[in-house]
Amino acid sequence: MVRKSLGLLLVLAVVMSLGVASVSAQDTAMECPEGDADVVIAAGAVGIEFEVVQAQADRFMAMCPNVSISLLETPDLATDRLGLYQQYWEAQTPDVDIYQVDVIWAGIIAPHVVDLLEYVPEGYLDQFFPAMVAGQNIGGVQVAIPWFTDAAGLYYRTDLLEKYGLEVPTTWDELTAAAQTIQDGERAAGNADFAGYVWQGNAYEGLTCDAHEWLVSETGETFISPEGEVNVNNDAFVAALERAAGWVGGISPEGVTTYGEEESRAVWQAGNAAFMRNWPYAYGLGNGEDSAVAGLFDYAPLPVGANGTPAACLGGWQLAVSKYSDNPAAAAAVAIFMASYDEQKIRALSPQGANPTIPALYEDPELIDANPLFSRMGPILASAYPRPSGFTAARYNDASTLFFSAVHSVLTGTTDAKTAVEDLELDLQDLVDEIKASM
Ligand code: GLC
Repeated sequence: MVRKSLGLLLVLAVVMSLGVASVSAQDTAMECPEGDADVVIAAGAVGIEFEVVQAQADRFMAMCPNVSISLLETPDLATDRLGLYQQYWEAQTPDVDIYQVDVIWAGIIAPHVVDLLEYVPEGYLDQFFPAMVAGQNIGGVQVAIPWFTDAAGLYYRTDLLEKYGLEVPTTWDELTAAAQTIQDGERAAGNADFAGYVWQGNAYEGLTCDAHEWLVSETGETFISPEGEVNVNNDAFVAALERAAGWVGGISPEGVTTYGEEESRAVWQAGNAAFMRNWPYAYGLGNGEDSAVAGLFDYAPLPVGANGTPAACLGGWQLAVSKYSDNPAAAAAVAIFMASYDEQKIRALSPQGANPTIPALYEDPELIDANPLFSRMGPILASAYPRPSGFTAARYNDASTLFFSAVHSVLTGTTDAKTAVEDLELDLQDLVDEIKASM
């Protein structure tokens, strides 16, 4: 129950916000920072997010010409991005003022960022999903502002399901069978490159998300419980890993073990996959003019395993202000602007379709008209399951690296699933013991 609380809280907050008047008026109360300042933002570039942030920066600079904002492009893979940030933090560099940070890094970034409670206008954070704000509060310090949320789903080709007389798969086994049927048919019809299913199999945080979904949907728990219990060495996860290893070179290209989000999207958008596991950003982009699948797909909750409920990985990105910044007040003003109601609305309306962290936006008719996904995110967000970043905190990346490395070794055939989970259990237990000893 405790473990599911974040997803449920999200839905509760959406429901509770019904009838609440727009709080965007708070945005207009925003003031420009005093004095001249240069602000550098370390931003992501997945899909078109870099362009979207640049447009946000341009709007801020038009409003506050005393602030000059520039963007630093960072690696697409979350794990690589964290590695880059850690070099900056190690050097305590003032070269970056604002960091775009992953939802699971709150405990990692805490020593390197300012307390945003010292900068946000009164009432500002009240408009956000309370659980998201709380997740970025470490010991009373607000380490980041939730900027957009993410819950992965199953993209499927509506035209191909119809062509082969198939229903939207609701279990992993149904997905495997449907992907095989469509792949066989499309290859026989002459598309040798056609894949049944694409997902994220590279050794990085994205694979942690995919494999965490297999694990939670089978066992109801992720790899370390909020109490620090390790949950990997069980028959259900061994079977799930064997099934996924069977996908590689089967219904998924051999190269899937090198795919991140963007590699999966490239295959999908070229029209070369029947199904894709990905985040909501691929929805608007997949319906873009340059997409071969525009109008030919939809998005459903991920398939379920033995646990009977889908378990989308709960993702999302926040904005944090560096403790080493020379202009923390100006940087905070930019972050506050970028995560504001009006700016989140613009971002959500863009083809990037960033999912807001402000519940009132999910009832905004303009947004629902523009992107039907918003009205259907409820069940996907409701079943979204957090990774174990609460318990592991500053050691989250160590835990995740052990997890995705073990999973990757099974996918590439280096280790059999049973041995991999036995070794992983020992490694995670050592880490948990270290974390407990340092508490
Ligand atoms: C998405 C999610 C993020 C996750 C990452 C993994 O960007 O928002 O939380 O860590 O994917 O690749």
